[in-house]
Amino acid sequence: MSEKKDIILSGMRPTGKLHLGNLFGALENWVRLQDEYHCFFCVVDWHALTTAYEESLNIKENVREMVLDWLSCGIDPDKAVVFQQSDVKEHAELHLLLSMITPLSWLERIPTYKEQLQQIEGRNLATYGFLGYPLLQAADILVYKADAVPVGEDQAPHIEFTREVARRFNYLYDRKVFPEPATILNEYKVVPGLDNRKMSKSYNNVIEISIPPQEIPSRVRMMITDPGRIRKSDPGNPQICSIYAFHRIFNQLELKNIETACLEGQIGCVECKNILSGWMQKFLEPVFHKRRELEKDPQIIEDILNKGREKAREVARSTMQEVRSAMGLL
Ligand code: TRP
Ligand code: SF4
Repeated sequence: MSEKKDIILSGMRPTGKLHLGNLFGALENWVRLQDEYHCFFCVVDWHALTTAYEESLNIKENVREMVLDWLSCGIDPDKAVVFQQSDVKEHAELHLLLSMITPLSWLERIPTYKEQLQQIEGRNLATYGFLGYPLLQAADILVYKADAVPVGEDQAPHIEFTREVARRFNYLYDRKVFPEPATILNEYKVVPGLDNRKMSKSYNNVIEISIPPQEIPSRVRMMITDPGRIRKSDPGNPQICSIYAFHRIFNQLELKNIETACLEGQIGCVECKNILSGWMQKFLEPVFHKRRELEKDPQIIEDILNKGREKAREVARSTMQEVRSAMGLL
């Protein structure tokens, strides 16, 4: 471990197989960051339980599927520490100790808390665990003394909250135990779903990262184009077309041509979709084969997580010594 590299931590809830929205919204950033920083990438299985506590039986399988996706997209366990939250009990201890100094009002005012309480239907989220979600996240980050956290915009308030908790701890115990982590906003590519809404598992409109290449054309054919276009000679509007949004990601090279051809009614949507499918296959084929390779070894994910656990623990343990000492427990 090089000493001068900044430490980065990020986490994802184990939702099972990831989709292209996850890849171009978060994972791509992680892959880039692992070369420059000392990265910890955490499967936050306890966080999954804060909302899905009635479905806990799936978590183990979901962890495996998600880590397979991470690796097939280029997360490299030799560069980054890949591990599972519940394997490192120090997160729980820090969460508990920080709960002593965290005013309830700080948690209650976090925007995601109020929004999700209202939005998520059919579940009782008036729980202690759900209110504490951001504090558990703060513990994930602070236990590694992370300097920065790459997240989507929706998570920015949680990192701000983490800084406040760190500041309060350092102030109360008069020691600089925790750095105040910076927010790195993920570079984000817009990925519409098959129905042109945002790609999201809850809308059932996703393309999985692990899609077999031969299934890509049929999935692309299902995607919605400019609804105003009936004949090939009708001028189209690429700006409202999800196929065009995908060309932006997968076919930078011909983007201008596609745009012009569409605007001038020189290309039909079927042809445009075929071109896109070809580029997507080219991009996703190596990802698919990498995954197949990894899947052959039933032990590999467990081995990687075990190794990650040991590396993560070492850091977390040493932080907790400082925390206990600062709070007068040692
Ligand atoms: N709350 C994050 C999300 O829903 C997941 C998460 C948990 C996380 N712990 C974290 C992200 C620590 C960054 C750092 O996306
Ligand atoms: Fe969309 Fe391509 Fe059809 Fe234009 S030609 S509407 S960009 S699919």
